[in-house]
Amino acid sequence: MRNPPARYLQTLQEHFASAPTWFACTEGMDTHNARAPATGSALTTNQDGKGTAFQRWFHFKEAFSPSFVTAAIDSLGYRPQHIADPFGGSGTSAITAQLLSIDATTVEVNPFLADVIKAKVSSLSAEKLRHAAVDFQASLGRTCSNVLRLSHLPPTFVEGPEKRRWIFPLSVALHLSRYLMCIDQIADPDIQRFFKVALGAVLVDCSNVYVNGKGRRYRSAWQDNQPTPEKLDELFAIQFNTSFEDVLRFEGRPQSRINVIHGDSRTALAQVSEPIDLVVFSPPYPNTFDYTDIYNVELWVLGYLGSSADNAQLRKETLRSHVQVSRPYDVPLQSSQLLARTIEALNQQQDRLWDANIPAMVGAYFRDLEIVLEQCQRLLAPSGKVMMVVGDSRYADVSIDVANVIGEIASAMGFGSVAVRKVRQMRSSAQQGGRLLLAESIVELRS
Ligand SMILES: C[S@@+](CC[C@H](N)C(=O)[O-])C[C@H]1O[C@@H](n2cnc3c(N)ncnc32)[C@H](O)[C@@H]1O
Repeated sequence: MRNPPARYLQTLQEHFASAPTWFACTEGMDTHNARAPATGSALTTNQDGKGTAFQRWFHFKEAFSPSFVTAAIDSLGYRPQHIADPFGGSGTSAITAQLLSIDATTVEVNPFLADVIKAKVSSLSAEKLRHAAVDFQASLGRTCSNVLRLSHLPPTFVEGPEKRRWIFPLSVALHLSRYLMCIDQIADPDIQRFFKVALGAVLVDCSNVYVNGKGRRYRSAWQDNQPTPEKLDELFAIQFNTSFEDVLRFEGRPQSRINVIHGDSRTALAQVSEPIDLVVFSPPYPNTFDYTDIYNVELWVLGYLGSSADNAQLRKETLRSHVQVSRPYDVPLQSSQLLARTIEALNQQQDRLWDANIPAMVGAYFRDLEIVLEQCQRLLAPSGKVMMVVGDSRYADVSIDVANVIGEIASAMGFGSVAVRKVRQMRSSAQQGGRLLLAESIVELRS
């Protein structure tokens, strides 16, 4: 065994930054005396974690830092049997739990991200992966490109006559078709997933676009500086080796039970029956961005989406934090005066809102979180707790104070202890002046 159990924690320390100091903070309702660390520090997020083991399999800007998850576990004061993250993202909670030999359940609605998590936690053999890499290279050499393999893609994806814009030049698209056909041929589902995730991790860098929190944009002067098939080969090889290194280093790690559910946490949590000691998560913020847009290139190219109906269906399964598809809007069953005042203020600003559904979306967002909290309440072990990282939003000068609305709803639901504390300030959108106005907070709930 490459990495004997006694060394796991030490290895974690070497690869994961040390735990944030704010963690020793308060218990009990602390809404108004919240301690705010230095503006701009990103204690909960992984923005500096590009070199961190497993985090580097796919750049996911909104990921937790693993040290946040380990600190959340430590803060329980006892060793948990089972933790859960209903908004799994890139799987930080799940892989951290696995490395600490703790059982975990995680839910993720985006099928590509669900595969990123499954790839990280699956017990791949480095030796098998090494053989698969050799076979893959040979198979790539034998396989002819076939543009039909990309026929499911929307028109803007592949260069063609009379198109003004395209995400991939034809040469890269044809080369991609060879990669996809070779991945299709891999029989072992775990190994196939590993290759898919490695390819997904380099797609945007091999395209004419970049993606940020606002969606997809063409690079400046993209026509003059388009990627090449050689760049795809080079980036894929680097990514494969990087991820492979983690497989090798952590091979033989503890095999705790990690349940990755691809689905909508509003319904999927009903499948879970074992008590949970810690539910730790960060849901999408109610800022109208849809993660389906942010990971759209990966979703389409890797075949998770095959039609615009698939795209719309995925949007419908995401939390009601955006208005990209029309859905029924309802409000939380438990009352929150703060939420009622917020929706009223938004309604008064209706003519300044860029979408008339924003006030209703805000109500529905909290209903969705309430549904997730109902499941947390059902599953929480007696000494367990829920830790949510949430962020405020702002529309037409009306702030959505997410943490305190959740605090009110959770109290009304019967959670015995509700603590809210701010952890950082986020920059608001350019329309709101880009000033540091929006708080990110941790909401801690106990039965
Ligand atoms: C802020 S990210 C979570 C990041 C995660 N903590 C990590 O470390 O990578 C929120 C995630 O929630 C997912 N999501 C949105 N709606 C969901 C739903 N209804 N059920 C499950 N996951 C959902 C999004 O796809 C996104 O990956």
